[in-house]
Amino acid sequence: MDRRLFLRSSSVSIGSALTLPTLLNGCSSENPKAAPVETSTDLSTWEGVRAQFPLDHSMIQMAQMLLASHPKPVADAIARQRQAFDASPATYWEEHFLTAEGIVAQAAAKYMGVDPGEVALTDSTTMGTAILFNGMKLKPGDEILSTTHDHYVTDKSIDFVCEKTGATNRRIEEYADPRTVTVEEVTSNIAKAISDKTRVVMVTWVQSCTGVKLPIRDISKVIQEANAARPKEKRIYFAVDGVHGFGNQDEDISGLGCDYFSAGTHKWIFGPRGTGILFARKDAWDFIRPTIPQFSDYPYLDWMGMAPDREPTFHELMSPGGFHAFDHRWSLDAAFEFQMSMGRDRVHQRTTELNTRLKKGMQDINGVDLLTPVDPALSAGINCFIARDLDATETVKRFHDAGIIASSSPYRISYARLTPCVINTEAEVDTSLQILERMVATI
Ligand SMILES: Cc1ncc(COP(=O)(O)O)c(C=O)c1O
Repeated sequence: MDRRLFLRSSSVSIGSALTLPTLLNGCSSENPKAAPVETSTDLSTWEGVRAQFPLDHSMIQMAQMLLASHPKPVADAIARQRQAFDASPATYWEEHFLTAEGIVAQAAAKYMGVDPGEVALTDSTTMGTAILFNGMKLKPGDEILSTTHDHYVTDKSIDFVCEKTGATNRRIEEYADPRTVTVEEVTSNIAKAISDKTRVVMVTWVQSCTGVKLPIRDISKVIQEANAARPKEKRIYFAVDGVHGFGNQDEDISGLGCDYFSAGTHKWIFGPRGTGILFARKDAWDFIRPTIPQFSDYPYLDWMGMAPDREPTFHELMSPGGFHAFDHRWSLDAAFEFQMSMGRDRVHQRTTELNTRLKKGMQDINGVDLLTPVDPALSAGINCFIARDLDATETVKRFHDAGIIASSSPYRISYARLTPCVINTEAEVDTSLQILERMVATI
């Protein structure tokens, strides 16, 4: 029987969606509830970009790395989706659930310079990293090599998969001191640590504990060289927590040379809160099993005994299913369009300018110990520092009392952080430096 006829007559409640042209072959190119960034939106100046965010400017916002404010095009997309869902949730969902996520994956893939099938949609970096490790086909004797500078969610995701599979984890110091880190130091420490047992290398692109940006391309070369001497079944896979470089670096993710890349899109990308992506290069898909069933398209048809005549994509197998906050998830394409309208290169350049200005200013203040390298090749938008002998919490509190939202790094050793992004101004950077200078002068 024709698949469409079968499905129409089946009791499975995806009937009305089947009239969509893309049921078996992917997605349509139009999102009926999405609108392009309005032409009246002036993103050619940084004042114009800043005006898109409903931020409280009575405080200087220097902690958007934690969670984004929604810029107008994203807020508008969410409002449109929400209105449509609220008007008739079941109808709207049925009409769009087979296509909406494909549209988001296409926008993400365009921004990332990858194939849409390589992009799974997640709720956060945490979810992406967790389902990545949980799905790895590891066995006793295999080793995951990671670093002492990875985030809590990376460490725990690795712990869980090791407990489950009998694999082991070795955490190495890829550099001794963030202030003096070099590319050579990182790559040679990783090269030395790779053993016969290593099956996965995991690192964090821009580290939220030190602000160091690791040289992902160079690390990838080390892994490629190691792989050249190995049989295919012993191949080392390279995974990256990319969240703090994603949305401020001018990089195609395909060009970084990693196999897997997990990132929330609710930080530097300015996407809806509760969204993220997990990328996997096509030739690394078969090392990962899904954890959470996808809710639509290929896996569902497969479950009904009607798998399309092609291999499923990573997007289809690995985007966790279930009913989500769809008004947010289906609006993520607006954030990627917003990023592309600003220009990935311009965003990178502006982030570098503001952060270099801040770090150079910190270097000139007696009593401030800057941990993050000034060199943009080894840093991005996170700047960690110690204000004389004040602890991080107290430093952040004093900044807050002076009208600046800073943050402290949630690690065993915590540092104060200022993390300017494209919504900030030179004047805000300079005011932050003045406050810091006054702070250390009174300690
Ligand atoms: C390096 C790093 N990875 C992962 C996370 C968790 O991100 P998410 O909130 O997207 O799960 C954070 C939090 O800021 C982080 O700093």
